[in-house]
Amino acid sequence: MSTVQATAEELRPLAVELLGSPAPPQDPYPKYHQLRDAAPMYRDEELGIWFLTRYADCSEALRDPRLGRAPEDVESQLNGGVRRQRRRQRPSMLFLNPPEHTRQRKLVNRGFTPRRVESMRPHVAELTDECLDRIAEQGEADIMDLLAFPLPVAVIGELVGVPRAEQAQFRDVAQDLTARLDPIQSDEKVDRAEVAADFFREYFLDLISKRRAEPQDDLTSLLVQAEESGDVLDEDEIISVTILLFAAGFETTTNLIGSGLLALLRNPGELQRLRDDRSLLPSAVEEMLRYESPVQVNGRYALADTEIGGHPIRAGESVVTFLGAGNRDPEQFPDPDRFDVGRDHGAALSFGGGIHYCLGAALARLEAQVVFDRLLDRFATLELLEQPTFRPSVTLRGVEELRVRCEPA
Ligand code: HEM
Repeated sequence: MSTVQATAEELRPLAVELLGSPAPPQDPYPKYHQLRDAAPMYRDEELGIWFLTRYADCSEALRDPRLGRAPEDVESQLNGGVRRQRRRQRPSMLFLNPPEHTRQRKLVNRGFTPRRVESMRPHVAELTDECLDRIAEQGEADIMDLLAFPLPVAVIGELVGVPRAEQAQFRDVAQDLTARLDPIQSDEKVDRAEVAADFFREYFLDLISKRRAEPQDDLTSLLVQAEESGDVLDEDEIISVTILLFAAGFETTTNLIGSGLLALLRNPGELQRLRDDRSLLPSAVEEMLRYESPVQVNGRYALADTEIGGHPIRAGESVVTFLGAGNRDPEQFPDPDRFDVGRDHGAALSFGGGIHYCLGAALARLEAQVVFDRLLDRFATLELLEQPTFRPSVTLRGVEELRVRCEPA
């Protein structure tokens, strides 16, 4: 059991800042360390939230079946009581508890078997090369614009069935939509998220009717046709699942590529090490995931009394697992603020854990491995032109722009 060395009142401003109020910190890591050192399991009575910043506690919480998803009205309290967020569509698996979660996940899983994902490697390489061609033409480029966004959106777009020509329009609208994953939201963000949700809904309603009429080799067609133990997803469920897959499938991977490259550029010794020894690619990608976790926080709600890290959590209490903090916990990862492409200390928390463990983890890893391999083959010099700014988001961490000079090999 941990000791609390600072009073709750002293820690409150720090905790609230980590939830994004008044703004998320550009560099949250020193603040995570501060909170973890002072109170590894901090409970904010006013917000009714437990803050978990240790690796072991986050991992335990994510796997505890008594910690699940909150009913909708409770979730809105967690959003700072700012405003009730009305969901007009059925929740996707990400927001469901068993048995509904199990049913949806089982149906979608079939599109993500390890064999199916691995079979995509050559095509991901082709798509990557197309992006690198455009970067090579420009010499100096915003990597977010020319690689980190277009590659994952092309990959997941093909899987789900969103045609290439229609993908670009989703970049801003997906950011608006996923802003609602943040623990605290302004009225403006809630409004924008609702407009984005309507946009997505209309789009996927139309796509579903097209696939119903004329099935193709994509997940939307598969879901429209799916029958698992006589069970099917209804149209509202298909809409929310396809939106989840599509949005979760690129925004996070976009940020993995952007933040991963930034980490390499800020650590030229590690960049050179990877350049010289590509067998390090898998561990380098794991390290990118750990070092700048694209998903920084997850939320859970106690469906029944439980205990985490020796602390009793009562039914009805909310828990926020700070994945980004757990990934920098020195008890799990020695010298945690050092970026080390050869690090081997077990899996980071970046894909979550337990029943909601990321469905797209293998695909995201594959994309990042291909991207960094091709990028290093193609360019002898990669130079950061200006220090980037991280987007003002608590949950999904990534840079706005990444301007890099790329000189061909
Ligand atoms: C670097 C890239 C990615 C990261 C860091 C990431 C992270 C995560 C995390 C942390 C969760 C768990 C959320 C929770 O427990 O509350 C999750 C769930 C999920 N992810 Fe990913 N993800 C990535 C890429 C992808 C891709 C490429 C896809 C789709 C192809 C995808 C689809 C999903 C889905 C469907 C879920 C919900 C699973 C469930 O509720 O059972 N993700 N992801």
